Amino acid sequence: MTLKDLADNLFDRLDHAAGRPVDLSRQERGAVSRVLHGVVEVTGFHEALSDEVIEFDGGASGLALDLVPGKAGVVLLRDPQGLRPGQGARRTGRVASVPVGEALLGRVVDPLGVPLDDGPPPAAARLSPIEAPAPRIMDRAPVTRPLQTGIKAVDALVPIGRGQRELIVGDRQTGKTAVAVDTILNQIGSGVISVYCAIGQRGDATARVIARLRAAGAMENCVVVVAGGEEPAGLQYIAPFAATAIAEGFMRAGRDVLIVFDDLTRHARAYRELSLLLRRPPGREAYPGDIFYLHSRLLERATQLRESAGGGSLTALPIIETQAQNLSAYIPTNLISITDGQIYLSPMLVRRGQMPAVDVGRSVSRVGGKAQLAGYRAVAGPLKLAYAQFEELESFARFGAKLDEDTRAQLARGRAVREALKQDEGEPIGVASQIALLLAVSEGLLDGFALSYFGPVAEAVMAAVAESPAAQDVARGLPLEGARRAELLAVIRAALQEVQDGHA
Ligand SMILES: Nc1ncnc2c1ncn2[C@@H]1O[C@H](COP(=O)(O)OP(=O)(O)OP(=O)(O)O)[C@@H](O)[C@H]1O
Ligand SMILES: [Mg+2]
Repeated sequence: MTLKDLADNLFDRLDHAAGRPVDLSRQERGAVSRVLHGVVEVTGFHEALSDEVIEFDGGASGLALDLVPGKAGVVLLRDPQGLRPGQGARRTGRVASVPVGEALLGRVVDPLGVPLDDGPPPAAARLSPIEAPAPRIMDRAPVTRPLQTGIKAVDALVPIGRGQRELIVGDRQTGKTAVAVDTILNQIGSGVISVYCAIGQRGDATARVIARLRAAGAMENCVVVVAGGEEPAGLQYIAPFAATAIAEGFMRAGRDVLIVFDDLTRHARAYRELSLLLRRPPGREAYPGDIFYLHSRLLERATQLRESAGGGSLTALPIIETQAQNLSAYIPTNLISITDGQIYLSPMLVRRGQMPAVDVGRSVSRVGGKAQLAGYRAVAGPLKLAYAQFEELESFARFGAKLDEDTRAQLARGRAVREALKQDEGEPIGVASQIALLLAVSEGLLDGFALSYFGPVAEAVMAAVAESPAAQDVARGLPLEGARRAELLAVIRAALQEVQDGHA
């Protein structure tokens, strides 16, 4: 019989004698033996749980991450004011949790649910552990419904389905946040709840996002979870997990939820910092070996649930920052293999003023195609082909070669496609207008217009279909064919005629 069995036996007898459970074993105490930057070593615990909350005398708290018999590496979640070796520490028996529920809508909170706006603490229905197992295979359903981003280049060429995980990847300042925030803005009126999780960002960048969500009236269906760059690495490390727990709360209630992680590069850095302090062996680029597992564990929680499991969905848009367009660095390759596709934003397109800078050739969506509305399928194919051929031709045409009629026509079409895919930040476009414009381009109706005049022409086409029943049908997901296609083309032609007459 071990000492533990002996003790358990003793407690059982005490319980019996007292007629109720006697809580003696739960209050395990230890003492701080080492204080590092953001990490504390505690000796004296024998049975601490992974991710258990540890409280220190004096008010600080942390998470037990590294467990060896008699010792625990505790990651601090708050600035440890005055924490010194020798100070007492106490196990709580709880794992880290966040409040979840409707009360969080419209709020800005930190990963522990503490409000960062001026409001009171959210009166949440319950607490959810930040780490939760991903939904079982049996509870999952295929991705079949689209998540409209309102961005033409994405909805037409790299469509995203509800329950999908699509990576947004690109160098600094290529519009990664803009793509994600525009997608959130486009959810106004769609019934989708959005969770924006800012990790390690500068305060002003996060403030700008929140201001944009507020100004557009999107905040009431939004939760913003922030662990800024100035916060302890431990808080940044738990941020995406906490945000996912909040999102899951809505998904389990049958809602469609969108979650944005901005960005996981910084999350990986925070985890690397903690791991090195905990003296875990560094691997590639000094990241710990389990960083892949960490991110796949996180993103596996995104899914479309079956009807019998409530039918909710969680769509994840993780963001990754590359350096000098290096997609083969450790974290980007990891994330590319974990997700169902990527939207690649190219700094070269940014320099050319082609915004959003979606590099069509290097972007892919592996599951969203099946969820895409039928109308897009009729226009996306020809569009992609025309654009790919154009990019090749354009590099030749630059040498000033004499071009035949066919080539010139192809170039004109390609330029129109490129122009049509441009879109300002914060101006999501509805399905009917998007398809009308893309149809006009793929039919070559806009080839003849000067590029300087393209903006107003595109506006006219997109506005013209607002009243068209055919366009509304297409927006509801009916295919773009037969009489419907003919009607839509007639509406577009009439609008173009009007523009030309007005111009003449
Ligand atoms: N579609 C667009 N049209 C015009 N400007 C845009 C568009 N999208 C983004 N921008 C501008 O590009 C700049 C960079 O955008 P954003 O902050 O979204 O990029 P980022 O990749 O998230 O940057 P960071 O690496 O700093 O996080 C901003 O000034 C933004 O206003
Ligand atoms: Mg950004």
